[in-house]
Amino acid sequence: MDAEQTHGLGYERVDDDPNVSVLLGTMDATGEWEATRRLRAWERRHLRLRAGERLLDVGCGLGDAARVLAADLGETGEVRGVDASHEMVVTAQSRARDARCSIRFSVGDAEALDEPAGRYDVVRSERTLQWLRRPEVAVAEMTRTLVAGGRLSLIDTDWSTFRLDVGDSRLAARVAEAMRTERRRASNVGRELTALALAAGCTVVADTTATQTWEKWNPDVSPAPDGCFSMSSLADDLIDVGQLSPAERDDFISTVHSAARNGSFSMELTMFAVVATTPVVRPPTARA
Ligand SMILES: C[S@@+](CC[C@H](N)C(=O)[O-])C[C@H]1O[C@@H](n2cnc3c(N)ncnc32)[C@H](O)[C@@H]1O
Repeated sequence: MDAEQTHGLGYERVDDDPNVSVLLGTMDATGEWEATRRLRAWERRHLRLRAGERLLDVGCGLGDAARVLAADLGETGEVRGVDASHEMVVTAQSRARDARCSIRFSVGDAEALDEPAGRYDVVRSERTLQWLRRPEVAVAEMTRTLVAGGRLSLIDTDWSTFRLDVGDSRLAARVAEAMRTERRRASNVGRELTALALAAGCTVVADTTATQTWEKWNPDVSPAPDGCFSMSSLADDLIDVGQLSPAERDDFISTVHSAARNGSFSMELTMFAVVATTPVVRPPTARA
């Protein structure tokens, strides 16, 4: 894998990307991030899945999180995963061969789920809303497919929390400003998760955050920090929003690479999670 392959790392149209295998591999790497592991474990504790329940994972990717949760549903449970990418779905299905319960992944759109209303006990979505143009439509769709009193779990990154420290405060400020700016996608959706759940009519049960940090990276060995984009890609983002001029691009990249070689490099990024419930519809009170 070279720096060009980790350049864009966009998940809007995975199947059209010439580096599709890198996109899939990056999901394995980000699944191993400490922050991801902590939030998935937190989610599992708060969902309190029961045998026989039905779970839908929207933007399921490789299906790894859904597969772990499937273990809590017993043989009578059911897991469905929906993802816009055929490549993701095929890999997810092949990894799920040993699941105890019924588990099926299919291609679909988070903003227009091909699922009946009120079918699922639990709907989850992880790091997918940030790739959508209308995350609020997707959350409303997820809520629609939940039973009354069903649980909704949202996990997502907020790229406005991204910090790069190479001992240069001016460079750090330019990076922070560039990452704060949303372009063409909901990259700062992490901090909006609670508001999205509330807007969809849910009650929030719990929320939390986890921060991923990178303190070691050798740019001569791997083209990008683990599970992340390359510094060329970051430089292009800065140029895009006017925080860097094209003439400064190479300097920016070599400053960051030198800092990483000298051990004076760190990056951090915060992810958010929320578990909420849909309203319980009470039976009408009997008349006297
Ligand atoms: C960053 S990956 C996260 C995958 C997985 N949820 C995880 O956390 O490992 C984002 C996923 O969202 C999918 N995606 C993007 N747009 C989508 C849409 N409109 N509907 C459904 N899935 C979508 C991508 O194909 C990709 O698999």
